[in-house]
Amino acid sequence: MCLSWREVASLFEQQFGQTTTWIVRAPGRVNLIGEHTDYNEGFVLPLAIDRAIWLALRPRKDRTVAVYSVDFQEKREFSLEDLRPCQDGWLEYLKGVAWVLQQEGFPLTGWEGILVGDVPQGAGLSSSAALEMATARAFAALSEIAWDPVRMALLGQKAENRWVGVQCGIMDQLVSAAGQEGHALLIDCRSLDTQPTPLPVGTAVVVLDTGTRRGLVDSAYNQRRRQCETAAQTLGVRALRDVNAEQLSAVADRLDPVTFRRARHVVTENARTVQAAEAMRQGDKDRLGQLMDASHQSLRDDYEVSSDALNRMVELARNHRACFGARMTGAGFGGCAVALVDSQGADDFVRTVGPAYQKATGHQPALYVCQATQGAEARQAREIGEG
Ligand code: GLA
Repeated sequence: MCLSWREVASLFEQQFGQTTTWIVRAPGRVNLIGEHTDYNEGFVLPLAIDRAIWLALRPRKDRTVAVYSVDFQEKREFSLEDLRPCQDGWLEYLKGVAWVLQQEGFPLTGWEGILVGDVPQGAGLSSSAALEMATARAFAALSEIAWDPVRMALLGQKAENRWVGVQCGIMDQLVSAAGQEGHALLIDCRSLDTQPTPLPVGTAVVVLDTGTRRGLVDSAYNQRRRQCETAAQTLGVRALRDVNAEQLSAVADRLDPVTFRRARHVVTENARTVQAAEAMRQGDKDRLGQLMDASHQSLRDDYEVSSDALNRMVELARNHRACFGARMTGAGFGGCAVALVDSQGADDFVRTVGPAYQKATGHQPALYVCQATQGAEARQAREIGEG
């Protein structure tokens, strides 16, 4: 059910009775490996997927932003003159991005448009970051601000941290802004350097939505962050990125057992992520799969952010002969797993694992093979043709 440029333009026409000027698309993401490492200044390896948040818009003469959400069937608006946070659901992401762009000194233009998406919400596929990057892309297009993906990702993260109040890292916004078709991005979350890394030939990436949800704000995410900071402070380093497994073992007695296990996850996950990127470059699917399996075990046992539903989904995925490796993805506690499978066996994998999971847990899953796509893009209506 992936949307197209043309369909989004038509939705605008239906709503406003005239043609759109700009259409923007910002993708969700799935992370292959490197979980809970971004806020430790470590490495992550996500890909932008063919599920996205879209906006179609026309400029207005005043400083009002008026948006109709196709999914929620409601129209909301705000003024760029008077931005205040007020827990207004999806609108807050747009307001937060407008606030941060204005703080940076960008002069913004008002617009009216439609918002539509096919990134499932709260599933760990970064619908929020996609909405932030789509909004930034829209303002950038209208106000002729050059699209610098790293800068825009940082501003999106700031909007999420300061306006929405979620203390996320940089991964989601950066891959949504800078994704590359056919590639995952190895991101160094300290330097913000991104290296496009090709998916191994003959493999498919499958997203496995467990149908279970748990909000990021309510979760133990912030607590995990604090535990990592405590560990780094105790070890006298800027971030856990600066420690390897041997160094951590050598100082194990200075950390309480829980903090030690949290730190061990981060330190080993960083190493696995760098190795996974290397395995991808060599086309070594088995090695990449093994690293994904090890990542899941570490998230389950040391970081304790998995759930029964995620563990069951991963186990069932692993039992399929086409599967090279599988793990929970995103913040955890619910949402999605990700599997690397042989592309020849991908259809059978989806047909078999979904029903087996539903039978075992009673939850309604959704499995899809996803493609690695470009990051946020803006096109003028006259450029899109039939595409
Ligand atoms: C969420 C956050 C990211 C990252 C992941 C865990 O998706 O938004 O910044 O921390 O969790 O890897």
